[in-house]
Amino acid sequence: MGKLRLGYVGGGFMAQKVHLPNFASLPDVDLLALAEVREELGRKVQDRFGIPRLYRDHHELAADPDIDAVAVSAHFALQGDIARDCLLAGKDVFMEKPMAVSVEQGEKVLQAERESGKRLMIGHMKRYDAGNELFKATLDGFRESGEIGPITFARNHGFCGDWICGLDTPMDSTEEPYPPAPTVKPDWLPKEYLNSYLGYLQQYCHNVNLLRWFLNAGDDVTVKAVDLDKDGYTGVVLFEMNGVRASLESGSISHYRWDEHTQVYGKHGWLLTTAPPLLLKNVPAEVEVYRAGETQQVTRPIPKDRWSWSYKRQAEYFVRAVQSGEPFRTSAEDTLTDVRIFEEIYRIWLKQQGAL
Ligand SMILES: NC(=O)c1ccc[n+]([C@@H]2O[C@H](COP(=O)([O-])OP(=O)(O)OC[C@H]3O[C@@H](n4cnc5c(N)ncnc54)[C@H](O)[C@@H]3O)[C@@H](O)[C@H]2O)c1
Repeated sequence: MGKLRLGYVGGGFMAQKVHLPNFASLPDVDLLALAEVREELGRKVQDRFGIPRLYRDHHELAADPDIDAVAVSAHFALQGDIARDCLLAGKDVFMEKPMAVSVEQGEKVLQAERESGKRLMIGHMKRYDAGNELFKATLDGFRESGEIGPITFARNHGFCGDWICGLDTPMDSTEEPYPPAPTVKPDWLPKEYLNSYLGYLQQYCHNVNLLRWFLNAGDDVTVKAVDLDKDGYTGVVLFEMNGVRASLESGSISHYRWDEHTQVYGKHGWLLTTAPPLLLKNVPAEVEVYRAGETQQVTRPIPKDRWSWSYKRQAEYFVRAVQSGEPFRTSAEDTLTDVRIFEEIYRIWLKQQGAL
């Protein structure tokens, strides 16, 4: 199979620091075109990465018949519409999270997938982390063998700190103004809560997405209890995911690293994965397996892909899946569940506040 001819939409922070360097480094990718509405920035990024074609916006790029697939990172309220247009123009698409800001917006994106027969993969890089893959494979194995007994509880603790970690990949900037982004929100959400909803969704859609994957929960998720501070961000949420009680602990701390781990308990042991700070390159999550019972034992298995970066593995996965037709692990349909869950959490929380 020949190289995948890729067009990239949006030359901002995530593009320059993460996705363009990653896609450009893959032997199976021909990074053919960039679209950037801020023209001067577009030219600078084109030069830096040696991208042959530059377009003024995603419509122009999507109309290029030489492009097989498109990757997008833009404002969270804009990128869903960009992805829709690219799907309808006949391209498979990779797009940064969140899948949508509201379920209604997400449904429109799914409709575009159905109409076009093309597919959208969402950037939830934690599912492509080599450590998390090892965790998931071990947990699936335990479920089958019964080795640590029935799964009794799962928790994700995610206190945000410094996620950029001094990443010194060079980046071009511009004085050109950002293009306006529409206000997209769930129609029931009072305007004054939009920013806190977005802050919470933007951050923790990753954590819920990871928990659902570990627990093979798909859309089988109910929000059981919500206890958040006035900021609508800090606190605890309890779920039932595929028959397992699961918790999400959220907050931030002035930590120079990133305080996040996920633990799944069985009757006779646990699995623990500790996340690397997001942009710390080539460091996968660390996994610990505790076997209780007769012989007490803690092991720390190392994934085969020892020095690897989840974002790069995600880019490789996208390219492979587009070329082979294998399903996307973070499909649009699957990740819409995360948006549904965040709407549900906020509905419950706002009722508690007397705001609904
Ligand atoms: N997965 C992660 O860990 C992670 C981390 C941070 C941000 N994100 C997500 O990444 C996305 C992008 O964030 P960012 O900080 O890179 O944004 P950014 O604003 O720095 O970059 C977006 C760029 O897109 C351009 N643009 C907008 N509309 C366009 C169009 N129609 N055609 C061409 N170019 C267009 C803008 O001019 C801008 O330069 C956000 O949705 C955010 O949720 C993900």
